[in-house]
Amino acid sequence: MRKLTYVIACSIDGFIGDPDGDASYMYPYVVGDFAEYLKSEHPDINPSHVRRLIGTDGLPNKEFDTIVQGRASYDVALKEGITSPFSHLREYVASRTLKESPDPNVEIVSEDLVGRVRALKAEDGGLGIYLCGGSAVAGALIDEIDEIVIKTYPVVQGSGMPMFGSGFAVSEFTLDEVRSFDNGVVVRTYSRKR
Ligand SMILES: NC(=O)c1ccc[n+]([C@@H]2O[C@H](COP(=O)([O-])OP(=O)(O)OC[C@H]3O[C@@H](n4cnc5c(N)ncnc54)[C@H](OP(=O)(O)O)[C@@H]3O)[C@@H](O)[C@H]2O)c1
Repeated sequence: MRKLTYVIACSIDGFIGDPDGDASYMYPYVVGDFAEYLKSEHPDINPSHVRRLIGTDGLPNKEFDTIVQGRASYDVALKEGITSPFSHLREYVASRTLKESPDPNVEIVSEDLVGRVRALKAEDGGLGIYLCGGSAVAGALIDEIDEIVIKTYPVVQGSGMPMFGSGFAVSEFTLDEVRSFDNGVVVRTYSRKR
């Protein structure tokens, strides 16, 4: 089985963006040893334009060969005219409103999202599946998530977009790794208890 890994950036109080989901205030934290860590340990999670900027665009994929994201998260790139923001991965965008894919590398999943992700996980071989978010899609796929990588930034927001847009239900995870960085960012990796 291929793993579905939710890699997500959040505040100390667990929000992934402002109340509208905007996470751009987090970008300045991606510097120094934390930026180096992302570059070496999680190079596939960077969008293509960032990979070109930091010179990792020629690297073979390390962890992931597929990405799943919600239409609202995809919109962030689309608004900038980028139709394939993760061109080094197979891109799946969950949407019931996008009728046609804007890019040949992007497949729209309009129905049975859970079933489609289960089928991706059941494929033979290959690398893992990167669940990019946002909150709504992570909530819809919560029971399929095998691993969570949480990048926590040293800020408190008070309110904002939650990590999972789903109802109350407790799922147990095991802490696999904790890494901390000079600017106060902490990255925790958890795997689901089965
Ligand atoms: N901090 C971080 O690391 C991080 C990472 C990713 C995203 N974000 C932020 O998260 C925000 C977006 O999050 P969000 O929760 O508003 O939206 P989202 O999860 O990115 O996308 C929601 C959309 O996905 C589609 N969708 C959801 N469930 C579906 C299902 N079961 N089947 C088919 N389609 C489904 C719907 O699209 P339609 O309306 O088209 O039907 C829905 O409106 C963005 O502002 C982004 O910046 C932050």
